[in-house]
Amino acid sequence: MAHERPASALEPELVQRLLLSCREAKKSAYCPYSHFRVGAAILTRDGRIFSGCNVENICYPLGVCAERTAIQKAISEGHREFRAIAISSDMQDDFISPCGACRQVMREFGTNWSVYMTKPDGTYVVRTVLELLPVPFGSIGWRKIQ
Ligand code: THU
Repeated sequence: MAHERPASALEPELVQRLLLSCREAKKSAYCPYSHFRVGAAILTRDGRIFSGCNVENICYPLGVCAERTAIQKAISEGHREFRAIAISSDMQDDFISPCGACRQVMREFGTNWSVYMTKPDGTYVVRTVLELLPVPFGSIGWRKIQ
């Protein structure tokens, strides 16, 4: 099997811009039900940054995560190739980690790009989309039930 090259490392200034941008986006979080603010910022291959926050709804399943807000903003502005996404929350002791649905949506747009999971103190862990969701949807082999 061919080896995919690891996602190219981001320049430190870009990492800082992305971190700042997701932290700023968190301020717009609409989360009257969970009170859990999340911000995300996605970096396109051509250097644009789109940010997003979680947007909840009284009908709970209609709420959308910050990551998907940012991705949908980028896609709907014509950007489909990404280098990285950064995520921030208010949890002091844990790195914010994307939910399964967001991992699946990230994977739709490639596996070889980076996810920066941060804490409010500016520290982070970084993983590729492939590492966060190694098995693609559909690879299990769907069969028609007779
Ligand atoms: N949430 C995100 O926006 N991103 C994550 O990575 C984790 C969870 C949101 C969804 C919901 O609005 C709130 O945080 C509580 O789960």
